[in-house]
Amino acid sequence: MKAKWWKESVVYQIYPSSFKDANGDGIGDLKGIMSKLDYIKELGVDVIWICPIYQSPNHDNGYDISDYCAIQPQFGTMEDFDRLLREIHSRGMKLMMDLVLNHTSSDHPWFIESKSSVDNPKRDYYIWRKGKNGGPPNNWESYFSGSVWEYDASTGEYYMHLYAKQQPDLNWDNERVVDELHEMVAWWLKKGVDGFRFDAVAHIVKAQGLPDGDNPNKLPTVRAYQLFSNLKRVHTLLQNLNDRVLYYYDIMTVGETSGLGPEKALEYVGDTRRELNMVFQFEHMYLDAASPGSGKWDIKSWSLLDLKKVMSQWQTVLHDKGWNANYLGNHDQPRSVSRFGNDLQCRIPSAKMLATFLLTLEGTPYIYQGEEIGMTNPAFDSIDDYRDVETLNFYHEKRDQGIPEEEVMKAVRRKSRDNARTPMQWDNTDHAGFTSGTPWIDVNSNYMEVNAANAVKDPDSIYNYYKEMIKLRKEHPILVYGEYHLLLPDDPDIYAYTRTSNEGTILVILNFYGREPVFKAPKSIVMEGAVLLISNYAPLKDENTSELVLRPYEARVYLMS
Ligand code: GLC
Ligand code: CA
Repeated sequence: MKAKWWKESVVYQIYPSSFKDANGDGIGDLKGIMSKLDYIKELGVDVIWICPIYQSPNHDNGYDISDYCAIQPQFGTMEDFDRLLREIHSRGMKLMMDLVLNHTSSDHPWFIESKSSVDNPKRDYYIWRKGKNGGPPNNWESYFSGSVWEYDASTGEYYMHLYAKQQPDLNWDNERVVDELHEMVAWWLKKGVDGFRFDAVAHIVKAQGLPDGDNPNKLPTVRAYQLFSNLKRVHTLLQNLNDRVLYYYDIMTVGETSGLGPEKALEYVGDTRRELNMVFQFEHMYLDAASPGSGKWDIKSWSLLDLKKVMSQWQTVLHDKGWNANYLGNHDQPRSVSRFGNDLQCRIPSAKMLATFLLTLEGTPYIYQGEEIGMTNPAFDSIDDYRDVETLNFYHEKRDQGIPEEEVMKAVRRKSRDNARTPMQWDNTDHAGFTSGTPWIDVNSNYMEVNAANAVKDPDSIYNYYKEMIKLRKEHPILVYGEYHLLLPDDPDIYAYTRTSNEGTILVILNFYGREPVFKAPKSIVMEGAVLLISNYAPLKDENTSELVLRPYEARVYLMS
């Protein structure tokens, strides 16, 4: 397999408004990030991904960009950005920007012109249509509730927005739009950034003629999201972007692509495709949603057997053909320890077990800010404590439909994106040391116990475990390039697998629950002579036994002889 720096890298994701506030206005900023670069470097991170920091009216916290080439004043200036980039580079790290190419803000000058009249030269930069039978042009539903169509009374037409109505979708069928976006991407590359996360890139192409999605009660159905996700022409457009712009730089790219499995992902990340280095898949993020394709808010509990199935498919299908991007949480998802671990009785061991999982899979690992100290969902009491547009739209839609408050809030507490957006917990001073002012969203009340200052000095902390795991990954290229093989596929508690390359075999044993199951090594695994590389519990007396009673959320990694 071809060695690449981005395969060997560990990425740390920053959500800038919640990371560190340097000027006391309650909102994180670039100077705040600068003041914490040593903390990130110390963890062993190679690449920092920062969520959007471009000028934006902030209806979706920066994912609604009104000027691609300006920095959001709340975050700082372009000089601050240039300095941040230098400071990251001088520490031997790289910076990945988050680019939103599917839509702009409705405040973007392109949209303001586009909206001004039907014959404005920029009208066709966005997707405008006449209504149908007194309603919107089709039945597609927005990711953020309601129709994807917004009526504009002054020109009598509707524009499309897959996300909030302040996020109109760009029309990639218009060559001028494509040219403008390419030019902008090149502008950032010339500045020296080291890569991009392409937001919502699966959706830049919509089905010809914008047909209705089928009625979900009729089979087989073409669900509406399939009419705007991962269509063929997306690949043509990405190849074109590579040929014209990306090819000339040694960068890393990751696309956000919901609604696909690993075979289809190869169309983006296959070694011969000239499209993306890797994609963020969503299959494991839907294991706790009631039915495939049902909304994320419709909750059920996930099962380890399903998690193994999904992850194993991605590990095996992409091996030697493409590359995975692995994550357990990000700014759109609940906290990983609250979701896949146990944030009440076993927060520390379960967060360490999840770290072991994330850092022993094939693919580039992405750590989301605060995950390295085991930050948890805040479970705020009232909807007034939530800020996220998706959450608020969902809440109001359901309450208007008469769904009881408690039922709606239960889903919000479990799934709101704000679970991941509470301020980073730096220390036990006011507002967790995030700001000297009033934070834009409340700090999680557990900050006295869960904070970076405690974690850095405690040798047994989750933070120091992450640090050790990252170091281990660097010392053992098997963990980067080795082939994955699932063991005990039917065990409901234990997730065990090996990674093998010509340098040897590493065995990973993870107990995903609070029970105490027995790990019985399958015949193919010889425990004798195996060396325990790391564990989240103190070692037992007799380590090389082929029958191990695992403790709650225990994780063990062995180098086989
Ligand atoms: C992606 C982002 C999310 C944003 C959406 C619209 O899913 O991760 O935060 O709201 O795109 O840009
Ligand atoms: Ca600030």
